[in-house]
Formats: sequence, structure tokens, C-alpha cells
Amino acid sequence: MRTITDIKEMQNYSKEQKRNRKIIAFVPTMGNLHAGHISLVKTAKRKCDILVVSLFVNPTQFGAGEDFDSYPRIFKEDIIKLEREGVDIIFYPSEKEMYENSKTSVYVDEYSSILCGISRPSHFRGVTTVVAKLFNIVKPDIVLFGEKDAQQAFIIRKMVKDLNFDITIETREIIRESNGLAMSSRNSYLTDIQRKQASHIYKSLIGAKDLIRNGERDIENIKNYICKIIKDSGIEKIEYIEIVDDNNFNLIDSINGSVRILIAIYVGKTRLIDNIKVDV
Ligand code: PAJ
Repeated sequence: MRTITDIKEMQNYSKEQKRNRKIIAFVPTMGNLHAGHISLVKTAKRKCDILVVSLFVNPTQFGAGEDFDSYPRIFKEDIIKLEREGVDIIFYPSEKEMYENSKTSVYVDEYSSILCGISRPSHFRGVTTVVAKLFNIVKPDIVLFGEKDAQQAFIIRKMVKDLNFDITIETREIIRESNGLAMSSRNSYLTDIQRKQASHIYKSLIGAKDLIRNGERDIENIKNYICKIIKDSGIEKIEYIEIVDDNNFNLIDSINGSVRILIAIYVGKTRLIDNIKVDV
């Protein structure tokens, strides 16, 4: 396993692999790796000749007052985990290497300003910009994203289609702790009591899925059901509970076909997101 910090070196490496007709798979991350990231890495490994993982806490996707400074950076522990999975290249650039004098951004209209984009208006511009840059640097054939960040994955697919990147995007299911809490780098901010409270997010989503499967079609009834379970757990701040058509991420007013229920809440000061797909 080799660590590359230099953009030109990464590009030259990938060009050389492509000349030799090697398939490159890529898993972009911000490090502090957990089983959710590793499941993407394992899947990617099966699909390629060369596996690249990036570790880069991207400043442009954090808003003012968010946790950019405190975001856990544990490079040494991350590389041990990646070595174990047979990763070939870690791309680990500095902020300066990625953004010195940069004036260009990539923005996917409409979808970047709904759901998480309402409270985090600059977030998805930061994500799509860094992901587009990483695509041009790593030159992957296939890239893996997690459904944990379902809106992010949808927006990236849209960017890839709209900007004609010759890349296959695949997504993988959410990996959860034993109590159902979706794994997240931010779970490390939670106390034991908060973790217990946060486990009710998934319980509410599973319950809502059952409701729909049993015939409930009223969006407000479903949202109220979720809201009650979450509030009863002691969580006070719900940012949103929304239901979208899973094929186009449009908010819906009646349920038919594949839908996705998405939630953002605060447990104490920690913002958590989760979602579930329901096929009707
Ligand atoms: P990060 O939060 O590190 O996540 C990297 C990838 O891991 C994303 O595709 C995310 O959806 C996936 N992931 C996180 N938790 C998961 C879980 N519990 N189960 C399955 N997959 C999970 O997402 C980002 O970084 C950044 O926005 C990035 C795309 C790297 C751009 O900076």
C-alpha cells in the first residue's frame, strides 16, 4: 500500500494503470473510518484491479460554526484498517494541495438546496466540488458511496450524468451499530445516554416502513408517527422528517412506488441523519 499526497503523482499513477488496462475503483472518505466505510472498501476491492481510498477532511463542505476543526483525524489508525483490506493507494492530500488559489465550484441545482441543503446551504457545493476534483485526480472507473448519505449519493449521480463523467457510481446499504444507530464518524460525539436515544431514529424508520407496508398512505400520519417515537425518546430537536420519491428525490404527497424516508435530528449538539427505502 502506498500513500500519495501529490495530485500530479496520483494522476500519473492512474494514467499508467489505465495504459495497462487496469480497472480502478475508488472510495472517497473523510477518514475516521468505521465499518460503514470498510463495507464500501470491501465491495470496491472485489470490482477492480487497483483500489484507491482518499482520506481528506474537506473544508469546503463544512459551514461556519460546524465541526471542521474538531472532526476526528486519525490517519495512523485509518491506514492500518485500509492495509488490512488490501487497498493499493491512499490519496491523502493537504488542504493547500487541493484548494490553493481555487476559484471554481460545481453545483447541482435544486437538489442541493432541499432536505440537508436547507440548514447547510453551502454543504453540497463543497461535496460536489471536491468529488469532481477527486474524480479528475484519481480517474476511477467505478466509485462506491453509502446510502447513509442518500441525498449526497443522489446529487453525485446527477453531477456524473450532467457533466458526462465516464464513471460508474454504485451505492451500498447503511451499516448500523447493534442497536440500529447508523454508523457515523459523528457518533463518537455521543454520550451513552445519547446513543440510546439515537437508537430510536432507526426504530421509528422501521416502524414507519411497517405502517406503509400495512397500507398507511397518508404522509402526515407517517411523519407524525416518526416524530412521536423520536420525541418520546427525549430527543428535542428534529430538523426534518421528509418522504421523497426514491427515483427522483422529489417530495411527494402520496405514496406509491419506491419512496425514501429521510431524517435529520440533533441529539444534544450532534446532528445525525438517517434514512430508509420503502418499496410499495
Ligand atoms: P464520509 O462521511 O467519510 O463518508 C464516506 C463514505 O462512507 C460516503 O459514501 C458515506 O455515505 C459512506 N458511509 C458513511 N457512513 C456509512 C454507513 N453507516 N454505512 C454505509 N456507508 C456509510 O461522505 C463523505 O465522507 C464526504 O462527503 C465525501 C464524499 C468523502 C466528500 O468529501
